[in-house]
Amino acid sequence: MQIGTTLTNFIIEEQRKLGGQASGEFTGLLNDIATACKAISNLVNKGDLIGILGVAGSENVMGDEQKKMDLISNDIFIEALENNGHCGGMASEEMEDIYELAEGKVRGKYLVVFDPLDGSSNMDINVNVGTIFSVLKAPEGVKNPTKEDFMQKGTEQVAAGYCVYGPSSMLVMTTGNGVTGFTLDQNVGEFILTHDDMKIPEDTKEFAINMSNRRFWEAPVREYIDNCVAGEEGPHGKRYNMRWVAAMVAEVHRILCRGGIFMYPLDERNRDKGGKLRLMYEGNPMSMIVEQAGGAASTGHGRIMEVEPTDLHQRVPVVMGSKNEVARVEEYYAKG
Ligand code: AHG
Ligand code: MN
Ligand code: MN
Repeated sequence: MQIGTTLTNFIIEEQRKLGGQASGEFTGLLNDIATACKAISNLVNKGDLIGILGVAGSENVMGDEQKKMDLISNDIFIEALENNGHCGGMASEEMEDIYELAEGKVRGKYLVVFDPLDGSSNMDINVNVGTIFSVLKAPEGVKNPTKEDFMQKGTEQVAAGYCVYGPSSMLVMTTGNGVTGFTLDQNVGEFILTHDDMKIPEDTKEFAINMSNRRFWEAPVREYIDNCVAGEEGPHGKRYNMRWVAAMVAEVHRILCRGGIFMYPLDERNRDKGGKLRLMYEGNPMSMIVEQAGGAASTGHGRIMEVEPTDLHQRVPVVMGSKNEVARVEEYYAKG
């Protein structure tokens, strides 16, 4: 598809390629999501001018302190999705239960699961934040989806993506046919195709992990990272660089642009919870993007997208990025 086309045109064209039978519901849904991302981008850009920094004074169901922008972004998503008849139900990191559409609202066949503001602690220091979304289909004939209807493996996603709010805002998404990146033209108010068929290099010399947790890690992770730090003299035989933005969206975006590996493994602090990052809001959508770009996404023991979800807010260990480096980490786990 041509560089310079709008996101809306791109989606319409993609749907047309599928045989011209599309009802427009999926196109409409992705448009709704893009609208939400534009609105969030606009607010994030204004920052302290409109008093949106700082905490909201509440915690989400997982015990994370909620920032004002976590709640505002969540509301923006609901508003964008519940009024257009494309979406049948929603689930978000910031809501304890699924969001059921109000009585009388037209129900669509798609379920949208999202992390409205990822890396929200970066808001107050004017560093990258993002939004992550995952699109599932409601089971055939279901008009009022329940929590159980959301319990689908990552492999069932029909679309996934993120929007990174950085020096520019970029929406990167997949519908299972490669990964495409769009840059927001703030003046025109459109996402414009700038990154066609994004691919993650298979090899890398760059890792991203919160090194301050080293003493809590399991032996395979400690051994892998120690061997990275050992550089040319170590068993990997290469000198690594390290990055940590503390926003998964920003880490994955960097990996899509130039390769790398991002890890948030199981450790002694998060073992009881099953990890730090959330399977439905973070693990699965980012895995779909990474795999579609030729990378790999693993728990350390197997594909993240094959984990059977049992809880909306379930957590998962995450190792994703350049294929050969993810495979290397899996080997460290395999030998224990
Ligand atoms: P969120 O702001 O949605 O809670 O997500 C933050 C996540 C993730 O994006 C990031 O990689 C990680 O938490 C940062 O963890 P540390 O606090 O250990 O740096
Ligand atoms: Mn997050
Ligand atoms: Mn979040």
